[in-house]
Amino acid sequence: MEIAIIGSGYVGLVTGACFADVGHSVVCVDNDQKKVDGLQSGHIPIYEPGLEEVVYRNVSAHRLRFTNSTADGVDHSQIVFIAVPTPPQPDGSVDLTYIEKVAREIAEVLKEYRVIVDKSTVPVKTGEKVAETIRRYNKARVEFDVVSNPEFLREGCAVADLMNPDRIVIGSNSDRALALMKKVYEPFMAPIMVTDINSAELIKHAANSFLALKISYINAISAICEASDADVERVADGIGADKRIGRSFLNAGLGYGGSCFPKDVAAFIAISEQLRVPFTLLQEVERINGAQLERFLKKIRDTLWVLKDKRIAVWGLTFKPDTDDVRNSVAISLINNLLQEGAVVQVYDPKGMEKSAELKMCVGATLAKSAIAATENAEALVLATEWDEFKNVDFVQVRKSMHTPIIFDGRNLFDPSTMTELGFRYFGIGRSGVR
Ligand code: UGA
Repeated sequence: MEIAIIGSGYVGLVTGACFADVGHSVVCVDNDQKKVDGLQSGHIPIYEPGLEEVVYRNVSAHRLRFTNSTADGVDHSQIVFIAVPTPPQPDGSVDLTYIEKVAREIAEVLKEYRVIVDKSTVPVKTGEKVAETIRRYNKARVEFDVVSNPEFLREGCAVADLMNPDRIVIGSNSDRALALMKKVYEPFMAPIMVTDINSAELIKHAANSFLALKISYINAISAICEASDADVERVADGIGADKRIGRSFLNAGLGYGGSCFPKDVAAFIAISEQLRVPFTLLQEVERINGAQLERFLKKIRDTLWVLKDKRIAVWGLTFKPDTDDVRNSVAISLINNLLQEGAVVQVYDPKGMEKSAELKMCVGATLAKSAIAATENAEALVLATEWDEFKNVDFVQVRKSMHTPIIFDGRNLFDPSTMTELGFRYFGIGRSGVR
């Protein structure tokens, strides 16, 4: 199949590369010429395991190319995917400016039948608006169909998620479009779920909000565990063993972050309000999420007392491991809180240092060369992102390097008894009952 993807961000780039890898001919369109030039010469602007190889392989095989021209993309494809950002507005609702702009651009160059697929995460009923816009701006009055095809990939394992999806959701009101969409996804050999457009759009927001809810649920339980001398890890194992519940996304911690959950939960709340069926449960999900960091900071203050001039090591900057993405990272909020209280913060992250420095996200913190270097003379070590690398650090050396051996583990990465045996005072999340 000939496919165009408009927008070469996380979703667009990974989708384009993986579509090419299964044999489709893909052109990725982006209005940022610097990015297009970089991609064409093999420079991947994000860290995503496996992506560089897939891009390189398919550019070399001439199945994948990059351009800044929407007309080029639309002319040379049967299907046009829209994968542009849908950022949040101050009131939580979604800014659909980019979607509208791309819909107009497509309309202006549309000369024959195309399927226009919305891959960006959008509020329900956006598909109707996209169709309306294309109809209004297409002077040639050609036939087209709009389809909703939400993406469920996770950063850090985006290539694997895309190549082996749990399901593919196609929201379409046209058999002609559906037949073409099925051809796109045939090579993935995954279950295809066909719905109407509105339901497909809702599936995406409902799925992300449910996962966020699961995280807030276990985080609320972690607070109860701390107050009742119980261990949240054991509670999560106990409830997660029930197949109806499942253990995944029951890891208590500093709360969810990143470019998806905070935005999508807020957007779903905003849509529900617009539809006059307010989803108030999700407001509580947000509240619990924010409270996790507050409780953790209180634990640090209660233990260290005044933070001013205290030297604190922080491991982690990214919103989760295996990514260099620092957007909406709880680790960054934590560091900024410590800095505001006058602490001297020494940070290390395996992949997030460059982006956080470039985006000036924690000005005032010292970026250390290694995990151990960050702990030099520190009065406490805070684990904010659960990178595997941190599990394998030599803690005998960490202890020697630190001024006072105290660990605040914001992701329950370490084993409390091992840390205690090694001579650390250990504080986790919801683990006050650990013996
Ligand atoms: C999320 C969804 O998992 C994807 O299915 C979806 O496609 C994507 O959003 C999107 O909408 O584009 P992602 O944001 O990459 O993916 O990351 P997750 O792995 O879901 O983690 C989100 C946040 O939740 C992270 O901050 C993570 O630390 C936190 N989390 C996750 C927990 O605190 N506890 C858990 O048990 C799991």
